[in-house]
Amino acid sequence: MNFNNILLEIENQIGLITINRPKQLNALNIQTIKELNEALSYAIDNNLVKSIIITGSETKSFIAGADIKEFTSFTSIEGENLSREGQRLLFDVLENSPKPIIAAINGFALGGGLELALACHIRIASKNAKMGLPEASLGLIPGYGGTQRLAELVGKGKAFEMILSTSMISADEALQHRLVNYVCEQIDLIDYCRNLCNKINDNSSIAIRSAIKCINDGYKLGKDGYETEKVEFGKCFDTTHFKEGTKAFLEKRKPKFI
Ligand code: CAA
Repeated sequence: MNFNNILLEIENQIGLITINRPKQLNALNIQTIKELNEALSYAIDNNLVKSIIITGSETKSFIAGADIKEFTSFTSIEGENLSREGQRLLFDVLENSPKPIIAAINGFALGGGLELALACHIRIASKNAKMGLPEASLGLIPGYGGTQRLAELVGKGKAFEMILSTSMISADEALQHRLVNYVCEQIDLIDYCRNLCNKINDNSSIAIRSAIKCINDGYKLGKDGYETEKVEFGKCFDTTHFKEGTKAFLEKRKPKFI
């Protein structure tokens, strides 16, 4: 696949997607959003990939937000469309991916960059990372799901504080507020994420897909997460993975989920 703004590597059942616009601190322009959509669709459909990591290409920045230069002369209709299309092509795809996606936050995660991390299933940050939603300082609000997903993770009070004050927080503060799952040295970031992927990849991909759906449904208006869980739990019993997982337990060996 040919991309201009991102890199995609597949190794050991892990898809590593790197946003690669270092001169713009990996700001998300429309082209990059389209490329991420293509790379994600490819990785999600590819049997060689069990989990996905998304990171930024250089030490300073994960993603410094949506590309401001692209929308300075937009009208309200164009602005709404930017938000709708971005959410459809990327942010909803990340959240609803049946394969686990980890954001490896290696530096600035601002605006649309933090919103991308929020749409992933798990967030790991390096110690130098800085996170925030600075949109209000531009006369905007977060448009890629930030007003909703930030509050889900850190609670309404901290979300109000971060969005209204536009203050950035450190990786340690983000950990304290459960915005990220773990903080490590920058040099260890990708290895940490790979190890986590390996641990996940040893488990049943069918069960993982169901668990993602159940957790997500619990946060969706009009969906009943408990009901989804009952249905998905039942479905597991008809799968080859359930047969293999329980057989392996009784035979005191590691399961092999094919
Ligand atoms: N869009 C476009 N270009 C960006 C950018 C962005 N979001 N962030 C950084 N850049 C560019 C800069 O314009 C600069 O380019 P030039 O060299 O051509 O001038 C280059 O990246 C390096 O940036 P700085 O010189 O500013 O680097 P710094 O170290 O001094 O500051 C920073 C780093 C604090 C991250 C600063 O660049 C910054 O504040 N960036 C903007 C962050 C922001 O406001 N993000 C929200 C965007 S709006 C959004 O995301 C809307 C939405 O929800 C959909």
